[in-house]
Amino acid sequence: MRKNREFIPGGVVSINRAIEPEIVFVKGQGAYLWDAEGNRYIDYHAAFAPHFLGHNDPEVTEAVVRVLQDGASLYGTGTTKLEGQLAELICRNVPSVESIQLLNTGSEATYQAIRLARAVMGRDHVIVMQGGYNGWHNDVSCNLMTPLEQLGPRVSPGEYPYFSISAGIPVEHRKLVHPVNFNDLESVQYVCDSYPVAALITEPILQNIGVVKPEPGYLEGLRRLADRFGFVLIFDEVKTGFRHAVGGYASIAGVNPDLAVFGKAVANGYPLAVLGGKKDLMDYFVHPEPSKRVLLGGTYNAHPVPTIAAIATVERLLRNGGEVYHYVEHLGERVQKGIENIVSELGLTAVVSRQGSAFCLYFMDHCPKDWHDLASHHHFKVDEQMRREMIERGVYFFPLATKQCSISFAHTEEDIDVTLEQMKTSLAASSSAHSHPPVSV
Ligand SMILES: Cc1ncc(COP(=O)(O)O)c(C=O)c1O
Repeated sequence: MRKNREFIPGGVVSINRAIEPEIVFVKGQGAYLWDAEGNRYIDYHAAFAPHFLGHNDPEVTEAVVRVLQDGASLYGTGTTKLEGQLAELICRNVPSVESIQLLNTGSEATYQAIRLARAVMGRDHVIVMQGGYNGWHNDVSCNLMTPLEQLGPRVSPGEYPYFSISAGIPVEHRKLVHPVNFNDLESVQYVCDSYPVAALITEPILQNIGVVKPEPGYLEGLRRLADRFGFVLIFDEVKTGFRHAVGGYASIAGVNPDLAVFGKAVANGYPLAVLGGKKDLMDYFVHPEPSKRVLLGGTYNAHPVPTIAAIATVERLLRNGGEVYHYVEHLGERVQKGIENIVSELGLTAVVSRQGSAFCLYFMDHCPKDWHDLASHHHFKVDEQMRREMIERGVYFFPLATKQCSISFAHTEEDIDVTLEQMKTSLAASSSAHSHPPVSV
């Protein structure tokens, strides 16, 4: 670690991985991680959620090895059978997707989705969610876990200022981006009445601040507003897609976006993202008129390794009537009930919010409806300490308050039961250390 600091700023290549306690992990297999000192952890971080089948899933690994042994390479010219196979698999199984492009990361895909929307609509303004994360580029590097002191009182209907989470974003660019509360249709309408909006991008469940679900009718309401004001509705399913259903959370909600972006679980940990949606929009990538054509390139797009990993993953997810989803739902219920029992035994004020394999424990008396609600009521210090206590006891919860926990297909009932045992001790220790209520604005 000290050596890495000599050559890498902060000693780590992705700054959101720079977190205390600093642990050097050396192996991941199934539901477990091992550190350099030989300690084993039951993993609920899953590298920010891609490992839905578990680390190094044997079937995915075998497919990757096979494709390399067969001599597949990155040809970088023409099309390939593999990319065609994956495209067909996705288009046939994701209801909102008629046509796709493949990229390497979620950020590239959300970048392209917004650019495509601007090209189609001939407008520049974009609506984003306070508390949503859609990647690192200029349109979306803002308003994630904005401190309440900076955010101020709830704004509705209306918009929050662009609170950057990165230096280097041009001031003029910030004026094109309008952050609003999740679950707040009136604010979307307010922005649409005030600016020519090209697109609204949102995770259908906010899963970068735990598990903040859409209220009944919210996603349908976004669809209606998109149709009325003519903006492109983009669902960022980088975290929710394939983890909750092969068709994405959109298929569970029964609401079709115009464009959808997938990543993470689609290739079970290999670097691949998908941008897909309505064919007439996607065709702007090959628009006959050069001034309307959207540039999409990328040396590594559809590299055979992540592409075969995605094919193997999606085929596994589709098998046996969706047994993967039934199993993780069963484990999810077990963890939720177990935590709820512990919370009530210890007399704590806390609630579990869960969608299938993704869950989060909030130290407040209701499931949050948006970031402002969460930031106003959640007890961040208890949350963080609980996570550190869990790590000391061999269960890896990412040690940053409100981060979602991810169960994988490789977890067992026994893993869940061990987790619950450790949770009981960890919760008792962390809640007694911080008995003061959180600050409210
Ligand atoms: C919802 C969502 N969108 C986009 C991204 C960006 O994806 P990537 O880190 O692959 O660029 C993330 C990453 O965590 C995400 O959670």
